Amino acid sequence: MIKSYLSQPHLLGIQNLLPEDIELILQTADNFKDVINRPIKKVPTLRDVTIANLFFENSTRTRISFELAEKRLSADVLNFSSASSSVKKGESLLDTVNNILSMKVDMVVIRHSAPGTPTFLANHIDANIINAGDGTHEHPTQALLDAYSIGEHFNSYKGLHVCIFGDIVHSRVALSNIFCLQKLGAKVAVCGPPTLIPKFLSELNVQIFYNVEAALRWCDVANVLRIQLERQEIKYIPSLREYSLYYGIHKELLDKIDKDIVIMHPGPINRGIEIDSDVADSDQSIILQQVENGVAIRMAVLFLLAGNRVG
Ligand code: CP
Repeated sequence: MIKSYLSQPHLLGIQNLLPEDIELILQTADNFKDVINRPIKKVPTLRDVTIANLFFENSTRTRISFELAEKRLSADVLNFSSASSSVKKGESLLDTVNNILSMKVDMVVIRHSAPGTPTFLANHIDANIINAGDGTHEHPTQALLDAYSIGEHFNSYKGLHVCIFGDIVHSRVALSNIFCLQKLGAKVAVCGPPTLIPKFLSELNVQIFYNVEAALRWCDVANVLRIQLERQEIKYIPSLREYSLYYGIHKELLDKIDKDIVIMHPGPINRGIEIDSDVADSDQSIILQQVENGVAIRMAVLFLLAGNRVG
């Protein structure tokens, strides 16, 4: 019998997820991808479930994708954005969430700038918690949709070379991708200027490149991250122009390497800085497939967590 629940009641990150959980989410997403390509895209699976989407940080893709996934599963959906809430009047996170939960909410999707916020909530409230990005820590559903999108292009993850380019030090996507791809058997590298690569990566069995051409020659998949302009509290790079010159992914370089590298980017893109438009919009790019797959992955996560619902 196929399992219809995860080994844990929350999705707080990929680090503590079992490889079997990841495989189960990817397999389940396959079924939901079929569902969302049908003329009738909705299933009654979560008809009795209420889900609150709590976004304390800006988002386009993740917020819309979760909302759509929840609606496709027939859940009742509440959307909360801190910008227009009583958080602005000084209400604490726990008070805010407990007030929302008193309205009988079963699952909470949370994005917050403070690393560990989803874990804090999981320890204090009776609801399934899903991390939609916590500061520079993890973004588990992004890593799952990235892995799923890679899986559509290759027969196996085993031995596949995936390089993550750019602002690694500020990136929750990088960390979740490293954990996820390694658990699936891929080899992971990062490439960027030394100031944007955290020292602890050497403990994670990750190869480090400081030269973009060498990294591109090594990889089958290039996952390009944006420079997080909102988190550059000190000067990590001399200028964006120089960053683009030495670390941007340009068509001329890809043409010179002449290799079928799959190009990814989690978005939002700083066009002309970390990646040129003629690369982002090329046939090698699967950026919009990543966004499409996000809905199926989030449907799978919500469905499987509802299988071991707390509260
Ligand atoms: N990839 C991603 O997390 O995008 P948003 O910030 O728009 O949700």
